[in-house]
Amino acid sequence: MAETAELKLGDKTITLNVIEGSEKEKAFDIGKLRDQTGYVTLDSGYKNTGATQSAITFLDGENGILHYRGYPIEQLAQYSTFTEVAYLLIYGDLPKKAELDKFNKRINNHTLIHEQTKKFFDSVPTAAHPMGTLASVVASLSAFYPESLIAHRPFESVELSMIRSLAKFPTLVSWIHKKKTGHPYNYPQNKYNYCENFLHMMFAVPAEDYVPNPVVVDALDKLLILHADHEQNCSTSTVRMVGSSHANIYASIAAGICALWGPLHGGANQEVIEMLEMIRQDGNNIEKYVNMAKDKASNFRLSGFGHRVYKNFDPRAKIIKGACDNVLNALGINDPLLDIAKKLEEIALNDEYFVSRKLYPNVDFYSGIIYRAIGIPVEMFTVMFALGRLPGWIAQWKELRDRDEPIARPRQIYIGSPNRDYTPIAKRV
Ligand code: CMC
Repeated sequence: MAETAELKLGDKTITLNVIEGSEKEKAFDIGKLRDQTGYVTLDSGYKNTGATQSAITFLDGENGILHYRGYPIEQLAQYSTFTEVAYLLIYGDLPKKAELDKFNKRINNHTLIHEQTKKFFDSVPTAAHPMGTLASVVASLSAFYPESLIAHRPFESVELSMIRSLAKFPTLVSWIHKKKTGHPYNYPQNKYNYCENFLHMMFAVPAEDYVPNPVVVDALDKLLILHADHEQNCSTSTVRMVGSSHANIYASIAAGICALWGPLHGGANQEVIEMLEMIRQDGNNIEKYVNMAKDKASNFRLSGFGHRVYKNFDPRAKIIKGACDNVLNALGINDPLLDIAKKLEEIALNDEYFVSRKLYPNVDFYSGIIYRAIGIPVEMFTVMFALGRLPGWIAQWKELRDRDEPIARPRQIYIGSPNRDYTPIAKRV
């Protein structure tokens, strides 16, 4: 017999169905609760609320497990490529060789951006934060490709929008960097693969035949794979929320970029490096910053520590920490910030405050060290997170629309002033 739960409300008993996921996760179905009782549930920050049923990513925070479409993140990070993972997330299964070749070719065919976009970059102040620029320019893609406004049908047109976003994102990101440095824009070259092309557009000197360093290409591929999806986090929920009104995919992704920007979410990778640099300049006084993080009056948090769902370890952080040593060794870089990060981790993981609250390094703690080593400026770190998260946003947007999910519209408990009468301060003429 199907499992149910009972809710007692006065002399009434409400039976709630239990929904079980394919990895045995369980939820009470409260979809009809308000009709049955007049009550809603209250869950600030959605700490206990399942917003959807999704077949894309499985995450077990207690045991540090992360799967994309059933495949463990450790295997994908070691053996796969970013575009293969993008295909997996969007279409549901790993591609066959011919399917992946076709997918890569389609992406390569759409890497150019409209020349008018240059005027947009020209008009943005050089000091602008790259995330604001990225959100704006991604939203503007809907202006260049108006067929994306016909929200989901036919599928071919929305699929083309998905391919276009994957293809143009590296070009847009690298041009944001070029705008900031004042250097000429590099155009995509289809002889490169996805990551090579991005590195070429970021770092190639004009008229030089750019030869990507395989260590850097591999590190970038790994980082992007590790960021590719993370189920219903803040930015992904935003993409789904915006998509649920049938807004086009570019607008939905632009909204996700804005949500990712915050320092509690993707913005933490920039904050981590700034924090480590602050510690270094303060004579490596790690204890001082650990104590500040424990002091509620200070309002200071250890960036890159803690996670809403991981309560044991973040499997992505584990892989990135290992990759950090390899990449820095292979590139012959000795970064003092890596030593500070490792010492900070050690001190925090032996401190009762962090242990009792189950606070561990998250994906953002070590990723910045690799980005720094491969020459990405600190201000661009969160943009790199967005580049990695893009296939996840696309897959989640597609799933929402394929399942024909209703417009998202949470309830609230109103705590403002009760009904009162308006008193005019002057007679309107
Ligand atoms: N440093 C010091 N104390 C912390 C930290 C931290 N980094 N994170 C959480 N705490 C404390 C917090 O003060 C609270 O203590 P108490 O119970 O005494 O009030 C307790 O731990 C629980 O914290 P919370 O804010 O209720 O937890 P949350 O699940 O709402 O927040 C978080 C999760 C990631 C926003 C939070 O841990 C944080 O602010 N971390 C730093 C920012 C960060 O690294 N963000 C990146 C997250 S991973 C990338 C991504 O997917 O977004």
